[in-house]
Amino acid sequence: MAERVYVFDTTLRDGEQAPGYSMNLDEKIKMAKALEALGVDIIEAGFAISSPGDFESVKAIAESVENVVVASLARALKKDIDAAWNAVKGARRPRIHLFLATSDLHLEYKLKMTRAEALERIRENVTYARSLCDDIEFSLEDASRTDLDYMCRVVETAIECGATTVNLPDTVGYATPDEISRMVHYVRDHVPNIDKAIISMHNHDDLGLAVANTISGIEAGARQVECTLCGIGERAGNAALEEIAMILKTRQDHLPYETGIVTTEITRASRLLATTTGIKPYPSKAIVGANAFAHESGIHQHGMMANSQTYEIMTPESVGVSQTSLVLGKHSGQHAFSKKLVELGYSVGKEDEDRLFAEFKRTCDRKKTITDRDIIALVESTEEKESQIWTLESFVVNSGNHMDSTACISLKKDGKVYKDVAIGTGPVYASLRAVEKIIRHPFSLDDYQLSAVTEHRDALGEVLVKVSDASGTYRGRGVSTDVIEASILSTLAAVNRMLSGAKGTMGQGQSASAMSFENDMLTGHTDKSEA
Ligand code: KIV
Ligand code: ZN
Repeated sequence: MAERVYVFDTTLRDGEQAPGYSMNLDEKIKMAKALEALGVDIIEAGFAISSPGDFESVKAIAESVENVVVASLARALKKDIDAAWNAVKGARRPRIHLFLATSDLHLEYKLKMTRAEALERIRENVTYARSLCDDIEFSLEDASRTDLDYMCRVVETAIECGATTVNLPDTVGYATPDEISRMVHYVRDHVPNIDKAIISMHNHDDLGLAVANTISGIEAGARQVECTLCGIGERAGNAALEEIAMILKTRQDHLPYETGIVTTEITRASRLLATTTGIKPYPSKAIVGANAFAHESGIHQHGMMANSQTYEIMTPESVGVSQTSLVLGKHSGQHAFSKKLVELGYSVGKEDEDRLFAEFKRTCDRKKTITDRDIIALVESTEEKESQIWTLESFVVNSGNHMDSTACISLKKDGKVYKDVAIGTGPVYASLRAVEKIIRHPFSLDDYQLSAVTEHRDALGEVLVKVSDASGTYRGRGVSTDVIEASILSTLAAVNRMLSGAKGTMGQGQSASAMSFENDMLTGHTDKSEA
């Protein structure tokens, strides 16, 4: 029988530490719920001591999910452990995750401690953490570069003091699969109380070996894997959750291990990450990249038609990719539409369903074939309309290759319509300036991404933007067959969040200066909307 491997997801901690991936409280809660639906066993919700925002989000996640263990990271320090415990104690199944570096390099240069002092610190703090919480994980930071005999003493001590999971990270992504295997075997063979704890893997991807090392660790006896959606994380990231889950599922013949991951939820969860952060996985990314299941070459297509197994080792459906098939059309009624929503896994209230159906009908007028992917994009863009302060009433844009673009936009607020005109070097630029003039709130456009939801000429365009003012950075999404409309809708979604007082995110390296479009013109600053 297949042995169970526990999935510890750290998208919201190690993943969120990566530049550009910061999320606000609501986004983290939504992500945590998606991870719960995905079937992860443990969610590392953050590093409670690191900021009041992190503390609040760990606490809120602990109170929002039910069927998963919720962990907070803590250094081996009393104040960190107290913060972690206060943040997770409201969870049905709380965990404190302590760590201390154990390699000589880290001990000497970073911690300025001897091995004996570090051991004492571990003894004291694991004991203290265990006095608060029954589920304690201890991580030996930089384990893969730690002396093996010292590692065994640390692991033994941590377990003796109450650790129930011991994590052996390859913190800098330096190890190779055989070294990881040797390390895990060594610990299993030389730590007398190792049967009282689960061994965990936490591998970084600096040399592109994170997933291979994780699988090697499992084969050597690790039964917890730490990973993130799409492999996001510090530097080159962590082991990718979806890759580990699909390797174990696809290669059952060779790897008799199972996880609780509901693989059909993978695409939905990774899409949520992409739309929340505005960063899509690169097209050839295994499992979740746009090309992961595309067969372009004639030889492949021929083979696929003869027998799909010639080139397909897993089906797109097994990871929740819905095919580009005609699903509904102009003549479909609300009943069929509502059935389709349920089939796609959405449960929306009556009001949202009515609004979505109206948008669906509007899209049918502009686009012949409506696929599952179109419907998913419409549903996700409706979620953008939670705080609608300003809505789009109408727009007219004039653009050409020998002229400046002009945009005339009407927006509605509290039942009143406001109108303004603006000029720009491109239609998007002109439109966003007109929006800024109407709302009278300067903002800067930090990022703009346009992509097609499906392949054909009449595809829906999806625009993801990041805008900022002094209070932070806000994301927005808009979907339409008209890319200018999608641009305006995405900007309105972002500025509505900005104006409603929703907390923005301030990722590393992102400035929150309120550089207005007016200023951009005056200073010659190149704004990304100059399209
Ligand atoms: O990479 C690492 O070592 C970590 C630990 C804190 C678990 O993230
Ligand atoms: Zn890490």
